[in-house]
Amino acid sequence: MDKLFENYSLKNHNTFGIDVNARYYYEFSATEEIVFFLRENPVSKIKKIILGLGSNIVFTKDFDGIVIHPKVRGLQVVEETTEHVLLKIGAGEIWDNFVNYCCKKNYGGAENLSLIPGMIGASPVQNIGAYGVEAKDIIEEVEAVNIETQEIKKFRNQDCKFEYRNSIFKNELKGKYIVTYVTYKLSKKPVLNICYGKIKDELKKFNKKDISTVREAIINIRNRKLPDPEKIGNAGSFFKNPIIDCKKTQELRKEFPNIVSYKVSETKDKIATGWLIEQCGLKGKNFGKVGTYKDQALVIVNYGDATGKDVFNLAKDIQQTVYDKFGIIIDMEVNIV
Ligand code: EPU
Repeated sequence: MDKLFENYSLKNHNTFGIDVNARYYYEFSATEEIVFFLRENPVSKIKKIILGLGSNIVFTKDFDGIVIHPKVRGLQVVEETTEHVLLKIGAGEIWDNFVNYCCKKNYGGAENLSLIPGMIGASPVQNIGAYGVEAKDIIEEVEAVNIETQEIKKFRNQDCKFEYRNSIFKNELKGKYIVTYVTYKLSKKPVLNICYGKIKDELKKFNKKDISTVREAIINIRNRKLPDPEKIGNAGSFFKNPIIDCKKTQELRKEFPNIVSYKVSETKDKIATGWLIEQCGLKGKNFGKVGTYKDQALVIVNYGDATGKDVFNLAKDIQQTVYDKFGIIIDMEVNIV
């Protein structure tokens, strides 16, 4: 059943725990419901945002529009061979429940993405990633409803134009589609991806290496470095890791020999923003109601009753400080509304 609320508090719908109201809040559980709503209800015509668990968003004020929350559930095996399995999952399922299911079944591909907060529907939009794996590596197909025409469209992996924390849904199709289902391709003959240094070290504590121990290792690492949004409001990495010219990295290395960089192509490097922020003396710093996390400078935290403006202002100050010191612009990963 779908439901429409008016003047609805979003405090429990964003992991920063920011207390703002939406003019309308609409949740739906089936494709037919959202299609009918978009076609028939004038409320659906006003400004809108699609919100999953709200784990990547900061509201700086009340939202004078409609928040649409997909609650489409279900997990369906759509194809299975000796090599792989295709699983079609509702956009409203919790991401980590899906990863847990795959690990229990020994289906490989999702384990490095353990414990990422959020819902299935956000995984292709944001191309979530961690520990050397991105959602794009396992996404087969994305099913979505066109907001204007209510047509149901299936996007193949290559149609989604995936990039680092980016996709077509954040660019030319921004605000044009609502994801209802995502189909993932998992391997029944898993090859573990443990090249990310910290996983190898953590795995030494286990006496076997399989999908489930990789999941456990990653859960341990994440729990050590990232704050639990249930206890302290945050949205994971607040900034992206910038991609810069190798020449610029070489120049910076003269002055900052320990700069953390990863080669992404012949001419480009990715720089660890957490390191940049830490070098500015901003790791674990408290600025009243907001601050940066003590174990990972890339994460901004809400110590209690911060407003979205407090968070946004701190983010802008951090951007400026990093720019002044390194001449690098760090983009926000979190969506500001
Ligand atoms: N580092 C510091 N100081 C810090 C944080 C990091 O010096 O405060 C250094 C670390 O020592 C390490 C390097 O930076 O050498 C990278 O750190 P880490 O492995 O923690 O990863 P990250 O690049 O900071 C990215 C993702 C995370 C993801 C981890 C693991 C982005 C923006 N963030 O962080 O994603 O969990 O890699 O793969 O790409 C998220 O998107 O919400 C998120 C948490």
